[in-house]
Amino acid sequence: PTRLVVLISGGGSNLQAIIDACESGEINAQIAAVISNKADAYGLERAKQAGIATQVLSHKDFDSREAYDTQLMSIIDSFIPNLVVLAGFMRILTPNLVQKYIGKMLNIHPSLLPKYQGLNTHQRAIDANDDVHGVSVHFVTEELDGGPVILQAKVPVLKDDTADTLAKRVHEQEHIIYPLVVKWFSEHRLTMEADYAVLDETKLPAHGAQ
Ligand code: GAR
Repeated sequence: PTRLVVLISGGGSNLQAIIDACESGEINAQIAAVISNKADAYGLERAKQAGIATQVLSHKDFDSREAYDTQLMSIIDSFIPNLVVLAGFMRILTPNLVQKYIGKMLNIHPSLLPKYQGLNTHQRAIDANDDVHGVSVHFVTEELDGGPVILQAKVPVLKDDTADTLAKRVHEQEHIIYPLVVKWFSEHRLTMEADYAVLDETKLPAHGAQ
């Protein structure tokens, strides 16, 4: 099976969706470790519940981003992953780290990229009076929230939405599309070529189901 290392900073609901998909056999992958930059991230509990190794690497213990990322790379590599999955990991990565895992690192971002890179995406969609909002899974490149998009899901923005109600609707879609993309990668169907994500459709299962 494909070996995953998942990086988190918070609640870990996307981590949970991927844990569930691995446990049910939906994804032929195994989560080798979950790494958090925050000791109190609830996602660490989810990992422990599932019997997955956890590590905390606090950015507060480092003077520079370079020093932090050097240690982070060494921890990631100790688990020998095929794929690094950013699941609500709220840190900007150094070019060195990004280059090391280029084509082998995914991120989920709560907007329809290229719209609303960065933070507070739900409130920004509401403030802009958008009818449609959503989520993107993309390969990580040096451009923040700028790598090739693999899959997006859309949700309506309703007139009484707050950032919280909209976020909840987006989260439901996140939990569907992130495991699906990890599944594609685990089936060796998904690659990054230059500025594009390429999905090999010839490897669709016989009955066309995903
Ligand atoms: C998710 O909504 C994800 O899209 C977002 O953080 C949340 C993590 O939730 N990621 C980013 O904003 C990346 N810049 P989770 O911890 O429950 O999976």
